[in-house]
Amino acid sequence: MYTAIGLKKKGSPIGYVKCIIWITHLLLYLISGIFLFVFVWFLAIEIRYSNRQCHPYNQSFDLPLVNLWNVSTKLRLNHYQVHGSHNSYTSSLTHQLTHGIRQFELDIHLTLSSNDQFAVYHLQLVDDKTVCYCLRECLTQIFKWIRENSTHFTIYLFIEIKSMIYEDLRVGVIGVKCKHLELVKQYFLDIFTNLILPDQIQGNYSTVTEALKQQKLDEMRNDYDYHGYGWLPLELSIGKIIPVFLDDAHNRADNIPCLTSSPDLEHRFFFIAQSHLDRSYSAIVSIGNPLSIENERQVNESLSEGKLVRILAYNKEQYKRVVNLGVHIISIDYNENDNYAPSFICNKRTAPPFCLTQNLSNHLNLL
Ligand SMILES: *[C@@H]1O[C@H](CO)[C@@H](O)[C@H](O)[C@H]1NC(C)=O
Ligand SMILES: *[C@@H]1O[C@H](CO)[C@@H](O)[C@H](O)[C@H]1NC(C)=O
Ligand SMILES: *[C@@H]1O[C@H](CO)[C@@H](O)[C@H](O)[C@H]1NC(C)=O
Ligand SMILES: *[C@@H]1O[C@H](CO)[C@@H](O)[C@H](O)[C@H]1NC(C)=O
Ligand SMILES: *[C@@H]1O[C@H](CO)[C@@H](O)[C@H](O)[C@H]1NC(C)=O
Ligand SMILES: *[C@@H]1O[C@H](CO)[C@@H](O)[C@H](O)[C@H]1NC(C)=O
Repeated sequence: MYTAIGLKKKGSPIGYVKCIIWITHLLLYLISGIFLFVFVWFLAIEIRYSNRQCHPYNQSFDLPLVNLWNVSTKLRLNHYQVHGSHNSYTSSLTHQLTHGIRQFELDIHLTLSSNDQFAVYHLQLVDDKTVCYCLRECLTQIFKWIRENSTHFTIYLFIEIKSMIYEDLRVGVIGVKCKHLELVKQYFLDIFTNLILPDQIQGNYSTVTEALKQQKLDEMRNDYDYHGYGWLPLELSIGKIIPVFLDDAHNRADNIPCLTSSPDLEHRFFFIAQSHLDRSYSAIVSIGNPLSIENERQVNESLSEGKLVRILAYNKEQYKRVVNLGVHIISIDYNENDNYAPSFICNKRTAPPFCLTQNLSNHLNLL
């Protein structure tokens, strides 16, 4: 009896071995379960997207040169507020442009068939509704609208490469690489000839942020003339597109050399929208909502340094608040029944007193 009890005692050699075997089995089941899940997930992605192909785009027309506008040369991009859309690919981009949206956010996935193709939707398998599956298709839709409406207010074109495993299995594993960005850049260059790039804002300064601070100082001294740095005057930004790499979720840009650390400016193409104000590339700041005191402080600091601020507004109350705070790009969940015209208005906090929205939209036929 003593022996029998002894055998069953915790910590006895046999109980110990049994326990190890049990744990090993459990681990094996768990690991095979995970492998099986990933395999099935991968297979499902393969099957779901296998018959969606993206074709190369032939650029066969040029944008007309438009020089009709007669805007004060002292009014610049940072003096205006525009409406943008969040997850823009869920309703027609053309419809959005026609109704006043001037900022888009396109979520990008690498397609499985080859490295050089990109698809646009939110999350693999679970949320992939889109009106333009291929990135080129989305860009082409925008291009075609611009061709018909070339005096539009500057369009901010945000792209976000989905990079978490649950968002995009492949990018989640391999990470966002320079070669991906180079390709996206090539797509932009193939389709648009009318881009505004960070170098233009930087002018002769060594960083974009310095150039913007200087512009702000100039403006505080009541000097609104354009000196070759800072946000471009309207006459140079109408009809143009600003390419932006949206990096507010994970701040990956710091680890992507072709985006941030190359001293060689020719590599720099995208503006980077994220929430760290101290980066030398920080020109467009994306701040979270609901607005905490800290977020609001960041908006104030960004404005005082001449940066552009982008915030998502989920309801009317938040919308009013960010308009009054002087946020430049107010992104909303686009509703087809709403009209967001005029597509740009003078920014309550950053525009000079001579900025009058009506003059521009009525007399100059700007969209
Ligand atoms: C692109 O050009 C090729 C060759 O000129 C042509 O066969 C193809 O149909 C064109 N594709 C589109 C979308 O226009
Ligand atoms: C542009 O402005 C100038 C001076 O204000 C005016 O004489 C001219 O007619 C304007 N041009 C157009 C196309 O509105
Ligand atoms: C843009 O161009 C289209 C096609 O010419 C036209 O129907 C539309 O009214 C224009 N304006 C806007 C604001 O979309
Ligand atoms: C850049 O150019 C402006 C105007 O030409 C000049 O005032 C400024 O000092 C220059 N800045 C630098 C950093 O060279
Ligand atoms: C931001 O600036 C506005 C306007 O000057 C001010 O009313 C508000 O208190 C500031 N917010 C913070 C958090 O500093
Ligand atoms: C806008 O129009 C008003 C009068 O209609 C005029 O006083 C003002 O100078 C104009 N502003 C600009 C920037 O053209």
